[in-house]
Amino acid sequence: MQFFIDTANLAEIQEANDLGVLDGVTTNPSLMAKEGISGHENILKHYRAICEIVDGPISAEVIATDFNGIVREGEELAEIHPNIVVKVPMVKDGIKAIRYFSEKGIRTNCTLIFSAGQALLAAKAGASYVSPFIGRLDDISVDGLELIRQIRLIFDNYGYKTEILAASVRHPMHIIKCAELGSDVMTGPLSAITALLKHPLTDIGLEKFLADYKKVNS
Ligand code: E4P
Repeated sequence: MQFFIDTANLAEIQEANDLGVLDGVTTNPSLMAKEGISGHENILKHYRAICEIVDGPISAEVIATDFNGIVREGEELAEIHPNIVVKVPMVKDGIKAIRYFSEKGIRTNCTLIFSAGQALLAAKAGASYVSPFIGRLDDISVDGLELIRQIRLIFDNYGYKTEILAASVRHPMHIIKCAELGSDVMTGPLSAITALLKHPLTDIGLEKFLADYKKVNS
């Protein structure tokens, strides 16, 4: 399973990249706003900076929700760097734009997926990725991981090449379960990725190894 980091924070992106396990980055307008990135030119500059850190797919989201606007913005974003993936919302004109981009060879990530039907539609339109938001479903007492299972089954039934990008990942168990269910990618915060490192028995074991070494080597 590929690991993407879901942030626009350059220091966190650098830290995850330095770990050597990062495959890509996803951003969204809220994450850009959180970093105080505003204004057209600054936004493009920030995407360039992310592309300089990570050599992998970087999702950059359009703001427009009408076909012409999505196409205009998406083409400009795609011009930034070959690694840019245009993130398009799951709306009617978004699906039309995904078909358009797919025919032009521009990769897309269909975002705000909350049902298997939405994922199927995006795959049929030629999306490179679909982003089911599992954490936000869990927040309203709907099993987000069940959606990953359904989409995996449907895509495998018909051999869709669209990759499942489990999004809105909140904690390490989400990552492990996504891997068990065969999600192609997961995108989550740095905290969820680094939490995978942790086990109390590892800490206790290491402490003992180092103490035993010290006993006979000091
Ligand atoms: C997906 O690409 C989104 O950026 C993201 O995963 C949303 O996560 P949230 O529900 O934690 O905001």
